[in-house]
Amino acid sequence: MTREHVSHGDIARFAQERVNLPKDKADEYRAQARRLREKLDGYLDEHPDFTLKKMLLSGSLAKGTALRSLNDIDVACYISGSDAPHDVAALLEYLAARLRKAFPNFSPDQVQPQTYSVTVSFRGSGLDVDVVPILYDGDPQWYGNLVSQDDGSFLKTSIPLHLEFTRKRKCAQEIHFAQVVRLIKFWARHMKRERHDFRFKSFMVEMVLSQLCDRGLDFSDYPEALQHFFTYVARSNMNEKIMFTDYYSPSAVGPFMEPVQIIDPVNAANNVSRLYTSAQADAIVDAALDAGDAIDAALAAPTKQETVYYWRKVFGTSFQL
Ligand SMILES: Nc1ncnc2c1ncn2[C@@H]1O[C@H](COP(=O)(O)OP(=O)(O)OP(=O)(O)O)[C@@H](O)[C@H]1O
Ligand SMILES: [Mg+2]
Repeated sequence: MTREHVSHGDIARFAQERVNLPKDKADEYRAQARRLREKLDGYLDEHPDFTLKKMLLSGSLAKGTALRSLNDIDVACYISGSDAPHDVAALLEYLAARLRKAFPNFSPDQVQPQTYSVTVSFRGSGLDVDVVPILYDGDPQWYGNLVSQDDGSFLKTSIPLHLEFTRKRKCAQEIHFAQVVRLIKFWARHMKRERHDFRFKSFMVEMVLSQLCDRGLDFSDYPEALQHFFTYVARSNMNEKIMFTDYYSPSAVGPFMEPVQIIDPVNAANNVSRLYTSAQADAIVDAALDAGDAIDAALAAPTKQETVYYWRKVFGTSFQL
């Protein structure tokens, strides 16, 4: 590949300046989540029968894959007890009421149920914390029923095992795995703005890249790694089953009927992409073909100006050198 005009180093610099959440911000938001968790722990010490058992930072901030555009802090909250409501709206009211109890120095209006989560707002600095309920029966690996942020259904899964799963890939290719995840998420975000109805959930992006990582793809050259991702998506047509054997054997994965099949690495029965239609899968394939073509054109372009023009098709106008 020609690297005269935009090199791996240029993409890495762009990522630092425009894509990644800066480290001081990430530290600040993690500390904010930690303070909430410690408050709950303190309350639990005095009220051991309280039904909120634990709060855990989840999502991209926990995994080190957050974008600069991060706009809330994801925290999972484990709720035990058979008396917790199983209807989502009632469960969110129940969670909000108990959070108000555990955090008495927050005014009640700072704790608000949303459609599928409860928001805790901080006055002044910081981001809002988005608390997602998980119904929990004491499983030692913290499996529980997570309220899906896509449609409010209950999904059996384990957040700590997801974090461990991602940690393994991050260790296999330090810095680069997480960086390529962020770059592809940034591309997907740009596509969502450009193309009506485009969707590509971050967790799905991460699973596609995890599979490429497991198959030995080297992520250390960013233009090449991005190109491999787009080529894989285009070639697979988004209808190849993606699954992992870290936490179950392949025989545990049943047949699925949905057009896109990206199976939860910690629950063989949970298709993470079950809500995606064939049309949505086709839109992802189209966008990947275009991105692949743009990178090819960028790598072959004779001038720096043209090279930048093509990279902007992938990342938008914030791409600059
Ligand atoms: N369908 C699902 N099944 C099981 N767990 C899920 C599912 N969707 C999300 N999760 C859990 O929620 C976490 C957050 O997922 P999400 O797709 O919001 O990605 P994210 O890494 O937080 O990215 P973003 O920066 O876009 O918020 C995942 O890491 C996973 O633990
Ligand atoms: Mg998130």
